[in-house]
Amino acid sequence: MTNSPDTSLNRIAPELIDSFGRVHTSLRVSVTDACNIRCKYCMPENVAGFLPQNRLLKFDSIDRIVSVLVKAGINKVRLTGGEPLMRPNLWELIRRLSKIDGLLQIALTTNGMLLSDQIDRLVQSGLTHINVSLDTLREPAFQQISRREGLDLVLQGLRAAVTSPLNVRVNALLLRDINLQDCLPLVEFARELGVVIRFIEFMPLDANRSWSQSQVVPGSEVRQMVQQRFGRLIPSDSTDPSQPSRDYLFEDRVGGIGFISPVSEPFCSSCNRLRLTADGKFRNCLFGSQEWDVKCLLEPTDGSRPCTDQEILAIAKACVEKKHASHGISKSDFQPPDRAMYQIGG
Ligand code: 5AD
Ligand code: SF4
Repeated sequence: MTNSPDTSLNRIAPELIDSFGRVHTSLRVSVTDACNIRCKYCMPENVAGFLPQNRLLKFDSIDRIVSVLVKAGINKVRLTGGEPLMRPNLWELIRRLSKIDGLLQIALTTNGMLLSDQIDRLVQSGLTHINVSLDTLREPAFQQISRREGLDLVLQGLRAAVTSPLNVRVNALLLRDINLQDCLPLVEFARELGVVIRFIEFMPLDANRSWSQSQVVPGSEVRQMVQQRFGRLIPSDSTDPSQPSRDYLFEDRVGGIGFISPVSEPFCSSCNRLRLTADGKFRNCLFGSQEWDVKCLLEPTDGSRPCTDQEILAIAKACVEKKHASHGISKSDFQPPDRAMYQIGG
């Protein structure tokens, strides 16, 4: 290639490095803020409305951003939402992303409701990893948490995932007054399926602003309960230090368990994630207050020229450079972000 304005971006070189030296290799892309359930810990009961189609970043733009950022060191993309499977033809985006050289993982976080219908297309398109959220095995508790019916559909989706070639994990979130009692049955169930289960602490990211420390079940407490029932947990030496999860094996090596404890044991010092919202804004932290608009560059509405790869990279770098050392959830002056989890990307 000659005379290309973008030849400097033809090789992979880590460029997304923040002022604390954290190298960013993981991009979380929210593809929609819409969801088919209304989890208490994320959404309000009545949502005023979701983003209209024209405010969502187009697949072309997401593909272009990922292509540019892979050359700057991103090697993993996680598709989130809202519920990412609500975005029509998501597999088409996955198919395009799977063609990007240097992108090692294409992962999806889903509530599982639409999964059994879509799993074959997702696998054929090149999806590699999937996390299915499952907080309870009791339909009444499912309805209390998600304000909708549908546990059967989630379980159907999860079972379909387990029999697929995908790498599958279950994500569980415990709220002390609602589903603490589901902890051990969930572990048992995950072990029956032979999949890893991860317990995620409730973070102050709910649209209801109802978060309270008293509802958070610390990972250490869950770990103790699990050890009492299932025996010693053996720290997994394969844990990647940039992974927020502390992972363990059971003595019998069936399944596996991890703890993501952003509230009781913040892992900000090894955070390697950059986020892209469904409406095309980079964010450097779930709890950040600033956003860097990349949609306006890629999809200009005022007839201006399309942007160059360098301009896309410059916006991402500006965002990463401004990343704070930590989220400060436990500080007395902590302010929850102005957007809830479903609007940022889970
Ligand atoms: N705190 C922690 N995790 C959350 N999620 C959604 N809202 C919150 C919150 N307030 C996570 C859920 C779900 C994923 C999509 O996002 O665990 O599995
Ligand atoms: Fe939907 Fe996920 Fe939020 Fe639940 S946590 S309401 S599944 S976006």
